[in-house]
Amino acid sequence: MLIRNGIVVLASGPVRLDVRTCDEKISELAEQLTPEPGEQIIEANGLMVLPGFIDSHVHFRDPGSTYKEDFLSGTQAALAGGVTTILDMPNTQPPTDSRAHLQEKMAIAAAKAVVDYGFYFGATDTNIEEAAALADQVAAMKLYMGSSTGSLLVTEFSPIYRHFSTFPLDKPIAVHAEDEQSLKYFGSQGSTEHNRTRPPLSAQIALSRALAIAEKTGRVLHIAHTTTQRELELIQEAKHKGVRVTCEVTPLHLFLNEEDQRRLGNFGKVNPPLRSKSDQAALWRYFDVIDTIGTDHAPHTKEEKNQPYEKAPSGMTGVQTMLPLLFNAAQEGRVELSEIIKRCVVNPARIFGLKNKGALEVGKDADIVLIDPRQEYEITNEQILSKCGWTPFAGTRVRGKLRQVFVRGTLAFAHDTYLAQPGSGAPLQYKI
Ligand code: DOR
Ligand code: ZN
Repeated sequence: MLIRNGIVVLASGPVRLDVRTCDEKISELAEQLTPEPGEQIIEANGLMVLPGFIDSHVHFRDPGSTYKEDFLSGTQAALAGGVTTILDMPNTQPPTDSRAHLQEKMAIAAAKAVVDYGFYFGATDTNIEEAAALADQVAAMKLYMGSSTGSLLVTEFSPIYRHFSTFPLDKPIAVHAEDEQSLKYFGSQGSTEHNRTRPPLSAQIALSRALAIAEKTGRVLHIAHTTTQRELELIQEAKHKGVRVTCEVTPLHLFLNEEDQRRLGNFGKVNPPLRSKSDQAALWRYFDVIDTIGTDHAPHTKEEKNQPYEKAPSGMTGVQTMLPLLFNAAQEGRVELSEIIKRCVVNPARIFGLKNKGALEVGKDADIVLIDPRQEYEITNEQILSKCGWTPFAGTRVRGKLRQVFVRGTLAFAHDTYLAQPGSGAPLQYKI
């Protein structure tokens, strides 16, 4: 297949190039390639050609809560958002915390996924050896230092230290860095403002702990959803000292703040919470410190969100809106598109050791998104393919409409229609 006359966005910036694919891979990238006899040609005149995004943080709820998402609906939402690879979190029911539960999830994904996929293994107080033994079958470990949706939680020093020193040191442990003891304290003070019941201090305490233990054990650490200036300062300092730490930010925290939380009510409730305007601004100011952008796509139904504050679960959808929001931010001149590609494609592939992913480059998988930068539209709840059917970004206007999405060279989504068959997504292969 030949995609010609498009503007190809590389990690170094946009260039006018033609892209040839063959046997699921990118086989040539050059100016003005000559079509081969019988070759399928895609005219990308006026379109931009992006690598498929990697969302390294989704909660697809399968198994256990498939009434709000399953591996088919979640990966279809991903495709519609130009995300061709996902890493699924372990807080399902049952949690992905044992060999049997991991195998169960792998079978589910193999039957349903329409994008490529990998898994996090969930840390518990007792599964230290089992986690290490299964490390080569997963993208990373996830360790919840503070409780959130689901039952996974590790708060004591001993299991944290043992996981950090036993899980292969070059394979990331991603932490949910909110400190449980302080969450309990602030949660009991009677506030219904989420940024008060789970304040920045809780994030700072847990992060400091995780950084210190990672430094001591010499392991690779990935901080999920950083939300405050203080965290980014601490991570920057740790990086300077040689601690092997990387960090993520979500589009929720980049584009929304606690004022939006007041407007959205429980629909804006997420852990960690939407923060102050000044913390939100700091995420953009410290963009250099941020390694990945992942969505924390965490669907909950409208009925669940409409319960009182204390009962309503935390989390919002995101996998379908990440690329449109970030592409639009680039169109508005807030950030270079190549900086987005680094954080949504290049760095996640490097950090999680994803073979064959990570760039529009000869030899890599032909995961490709064609987008029309001129077309503007409004994001609506009706467009949201996640089973829960809503987005906190309803009403936002964005420039850049997805035209076609290819997964390993096969057209999977075109002009708002699915072509991919359930099960066409493939399990990821790992270098580390
Ligand atoms: O808001 C959140 N929702 N934060 C998490 O850590 C988990 C997620 C979920 O699974 O609902
Ligand atoms: Zn999450």
